[in-house]
Amino acid sequence: MHKQLAQRQRLSLLDDAATYKKLEFNKKRNLEQDHSAMMDEATARFKFEDCKNEYWNPEEFSLLHGTPLWYGASPSQRIILNQLYWVAYYAQIVSAEIATIYLNQVSAAGLYAHEDFRIVCDSLDLETKQERAHIHAFKTIGEDVEWRLFGERLFTYPMRSLYEQTMVFADSNHAKDYWRKLQIKAFTLLSSSNAFLASQYLLIRGLRTLNGKMIQHQLSLYYSNHPDKERAPIPSAISYYHFMDESFHFNTSKIIGHDIPRSLDPPTAFEKWIVNRGVTGCQRDHYHFSATLRGIFWYEPALFPVLKKMLMSPHFGFNAKDAQEMLKRCFTQENDGIHAAHAMHRTANESYKSYVESITYLDARNRDMAVMGGNSIAAYLERNARALEKEAA
Ligand SMILES: [Fe+2]
Ligand SMILES: [Fe+2]
Repeated sequence: MHKQLAQRQRLSLLDDAATYKKLEFNKKRNLEQDHSAMMDEATARFKFEDCKNEYWNPEEFSLLHGTPLWYGASPSQRIILNQLYWVAYYAQIVSAEIATIYLNQVSAAGLYAHEDFRIVCDSLDLETKQERAHIHAFKTIGEDVEWRLFGERLFTYPMRSLYEQTMVFADSNHAKDYWRKLQIKAFTLLSSSNAFLASQYLLIRGLRTLNGKMIQHQLSLYYSNHPDKERAPIPSAISYYHFMDESFHFNTSKIIGHDIPRSLDPPTAFEKWIVNRGVTGCQRDHYHFSATLRGIFWYEPALFPVLKKMLMSPHFGFNAKDAQEMLKRCFTQENDGIHAAHAMHRTANESYKSYVESITYLDARNRDMAVMGGNSIAAYLERNARALEKEAA
């Protein structure tokens, strides 16, 4: 910012040398290490035949791991459950990244309205480009696997806009969806010309990806610990490449969400209110936990129809009555899978709290993550039982 000429703003990012340096370093390293071309190349080489008889993730990252279905599954069924975890997990990541692509650009527009923010915008541009490669890999492989195993979709979906549900399997209805759409439209309209709100999209992005960072680190270990990387299953390599790119994205979220506000005017009451609403929205989206897909906060009853389809496929061979009975055994009584999913949700809850600890403009319910923390195993079991009864009736 040229200090001698008249400016619209008092503060400059250039005065916060430490933050500026962090941004420069993060962008430079991400550019040098960019794994998106490797993801494209690996995706082009993917053939289900080549890796259909092996795990793609560490064993505990398998669909319904630790539930009665898992304990009763044959070795080949366990392989399918492990591969479907990959498909389902990254189907959720595709949805989140479709939203990220748009919101990165909105946020860059809002920050670019201030002097000296080119570095932030260039970083977000690079990340947006990487997300397109990530989505391409997850979508191409996920769809291919579902087509070959089932001849139809289970967890994937045709390309869509961010105004569809962000959580692929959510507790929602038309009214809630409509309201959500309006809120996103209002937020993007406001933040495209408001630097503070634009920076706080990254606070929320950081929060939303905090749990993903933990899971994706563990998924990446299958490849990094693989004794023969040349022959490692391609989906496991993609998990690893993706985690490499995302670690930079996470740094970006942290720097922009936490440090950039120091170079902006303090938020107004209205701006604080908007950010608090955004964080509460994230808490609501992450309220549920799922024993189907440990580590993703899907609403379990929304998954029941898909799970029935899976159980009644030739790979599992259940009839309708037995499939219903199996869902009851897996989701209405405590088991290892439910305990592990709940424990991961608790860990996420704690890490969200420490992530926002220093953000003084958040209200108490957001700093304590009280909404998300209000869920319990008892409430979960009851919701599942009610949903299954309704389906059976
Ligand atoms: Fe990504
Ligand atoms: Fe990302």
